[in-house]
Amino acid sequence: MRRDEAASPARCAERRRRLAAAMAAQGGGIAVLPTAPERQRNGDNDHPYRHCSHFHYLSGFDEPQAWLLLDDSGHSTLLCREKNAEREIWDGHRLGPEAAPAVLGVDEAHAVEALDRVAIDKLAGAAAVWLPFGVHDGLVARVDGWLAALRGRSHLGIRSPQSQHDLAPLLAEMRLVKDEGELATMRRAARISAGAHVRAMRFAAAHFRAAPQAGLPEYALEAELLHEFRRHGAQSPAYGAIVAAGRNACVLHYAAGDTELRAGELCLIDAGCELDGYASDVTRSFPADGRFTPAQRELYDIVLEAQQAAIAVTRPGARKQDAHWAAVRVLAQGMLDAGLLERNKVGDVEAVIESAAYRAFYMHGTGHWLGRDVHDVGEVLALDEPPVEQRDGYGARVLKKPSRVLRPGMVITVEPGLYVRPAEGVPERFWNIGIRIEDDAVITATGCELISRDVPVDPREIERLMRG
Ligand code: GLY
Ligand code: MN
Ligand code: MN
Repeated sequence: MRRDEAASPARCAERRRRLAAAMAAQGGGIAVLPTAPERQRNGDNDHPYRHCSHFHYLSGFDEPQAWLLLDDSGHSTLLCREKNAEREIWDGHRLGPEAAPAVLGVDEAHAVEALDRVAIDKLAGAAAVWLPFGVHDGLVARVDGWLAALRGRSHLGIRSPQSQHDLAPLLAEMRLVKDEGELATMRRAARISAGAHVRAMRFAAAHFRAAPQAGLPEYALEAELLHEFRRHGAQSPAYGAIVAAGRNACVLHYAAGDTELRAGELCLIDAGCELDGYASDVTRSFPADGRFTPAQRELYDIVLEAQQAAIAVTRPGARKQDAHWAAVRVLAQGMLDAGLLERNKVGDVEAVIESAAYRAFYMHGTGHWLGRDVHDVGEVLALDEPPVEQRDGYGARVLKKPSRVLRPGMVITVEPGLYVRPAEGVPERFWNIGIRIEDDAVITATGCELISRDVPVDPREIERLMRG
């Protein structure tokens, strides 16, 4: 992988320095962080390798079988695979511990085979050991082995760490606010994904122009997305692409399958690439043949208005959930206006929100943190604030911490939707329509920057693009 702006040695060194300072402020100690394991698919055939997001954030190093040790003074030690002429013929280049300090900016490096010895040496006399809880299988057992070895030396006057702390919340808090290097990579990722959506829309339009009666399989649209991701250098999709023809759009986690999209139907595509370790997450809903039907357009306009309302409150100082409730309000009003909900049964918009009747057609949240992971790390609640009474997603009044306040540098998705399954009392012209519109928003000093808008959301612009 390129060591680009998001994982340059200088940026990684700065992150390690900040993490060390955070540990020092809480009693100090040594952080122990492995990267992700390689995963066997079958036989001698592995799944494509993907590093651990935390590990790469601190090291910029994407080889497997690597560990980072970091003490509270900021001294960093990398353990990595040694150079091996034979293995490099089969598997490719290895950096090796000799070159690692100069290339990555770590303070020292050793062969990964020396991990137990190096870790035990570093932990001798350390106040505490910091490791991410619940992230890496087997990590606790490995660290326990080191602590047991140290206790075995206590008669020599060697002290072992007296406590263990979870490293994950410190890293999650740091990763929640992106630096300029990360934002530059995320903008590029979002632009590539937007281009892939444009490509899929154009592909569908060309297909239905040439053969209006022929179906277009979802997998063929997925292939267009993947082609566009890869040809612009993205390493992989950030998650399994959702390409949902017609009624499949009402299945929230639908994967691209072999259903054929037909003229007159909507297609929902939720797909984003991962570029240099950063995700994008974009959804568009478009008419297969480039023309919204009146019923599709009516619901589309409601979702778009909900997204606009959510975007308007996606700004510094607002709380994460403000966008959700802004979207819910517009969607609930839209459900009443369109007749999805019957006013004489459910009451006015306040009653629809209070009773959560809107959940019949909108049952998910409106946004999540985005970063190295598509559902990125970062606490969603303001844990340092007292609980307040609020409405949960099911309409119940609960006492819980408020959602946290947005700050510049956070990145969040804005993704309202409407999903109409056939049901008694629901106007038939809306049956099987599923719509979601999702963009990626960087919180700025004054509001937010939508980084995925190189694909249109305005229905007239979508129609124009597909006609062109
Ligand atoms: N693509 C997953 C999500 O939108 O949350
Ligand atoms: Mn999303
Ligand atoms: Mn998505």
